[in-house]
Amino acid sequence: MSLEGKVAIITGAGQGIGRGYAHGFSDAGAAVVVADINLSNAENVVEEIVNRGGRAIAVHVDISSETAVKTMVARVVEEYGTIDILINNAALFSALKMKPFTEITVTEWDQVFAINTRGTFLCVREVTPVMKANGGGRIVNISSGVVDDGRPNYLHYLSSKSAINGMTRGLATELGEYGIGINTLSPYGIATEVPRETISESQWSGIVQKQALHVKGSTDSMVGAALFLADEAASFITGQTLHVNGGTLYH
Ligand SMILES: NC(=O)c1ccc[n+]([C@@H]2O[C@H](COP(=O)([O-])OP(=O)(O)OC[C@H]3O[C@@H](n4cnc5c(N)ncnc54)[C@H](O)[C@@H]3O)[C@@H](O)[C@H]2O)c1
Repeated sequence: MSLEGKVAIITGAGQGIGRGYAHGFSDAGAAVVVADINLSNAENVVEEIVNRGGRAIAVHVDISSETAVKTMVARVVEEYGTIDILINNAALFSALKMKPFTEITVTEWDQVFAINTRGTFLCVREVTPVMKANGGGRIVNISSGVVDDGRPNYLHYLSSKSAINGMTRGLATELGEYGIGINTLSPYGIATEVPRETISESQWSGIVQKQALHVKGSTDSMVGAALFLADEAASFITGQTLHVNGGTLYH
């Protein structure tokens, strides 16, 4: 996969899977925008990429804010002149507390939707004028396998990610005429360098045993699928959901 000459915004790339995408896209030749609400993490990832000979900038953004997303897009156009790829990866995820739905407050519910769902919509809305002017582009929205297995105590997160699956389909129908392809990538059970309380060690063992492929998913497990959906190789694929889960859920 070669992304030579392409400019890719990867939101939430300051850590975890997004950081993996940032390295993978840089290795494939793209200039990478490491966009995150945590600027110092984003700057660290940029330093890692630049030390390996890649091209990247760190941009501070809160994707739930319309103004901040507009500012991010303007900054990228100012720096690189264009935007070819958007990986809509940022989410309230590893920092989120699981709890029975009866205990989820309206404030928590709205915060999860503001970031995971509205943030995804805002990033698509603001990058597409640039892509339209270019004659095309590739967008990947990140959902989750919990949408399909209905994990308990995750209703705010699961519902916010369910909306992504539908959003991608609707957007595909509106963006196709501009040569913009948009798909959903749905991970499940991906371990990263970030510790999280939502999966215990025994749950990890259960997940790996349930998978057809008995290996623990890692950020590397996600990068190839994201590169494929962002590449010309996937140019006739839009509005679809690609599941990356080692064979846990089948579609
Ligand atoms: N790791 C998994 O097993 C798994 C499974 C299914 C889906 N996912 C999805 O994959 C994506 C990445 O997962 P991860 O494990 O790396 O998550 P993570 O929680 O480690 O990283 C999320 C990143 O998003 C950033 N972020 C949070 N709120 C933001 C905001 N308002 N604006 C900008 N940036 C913001 C964080 O600072 C962080 O860098 C998420 O969308 C997650 O929901 C992950």
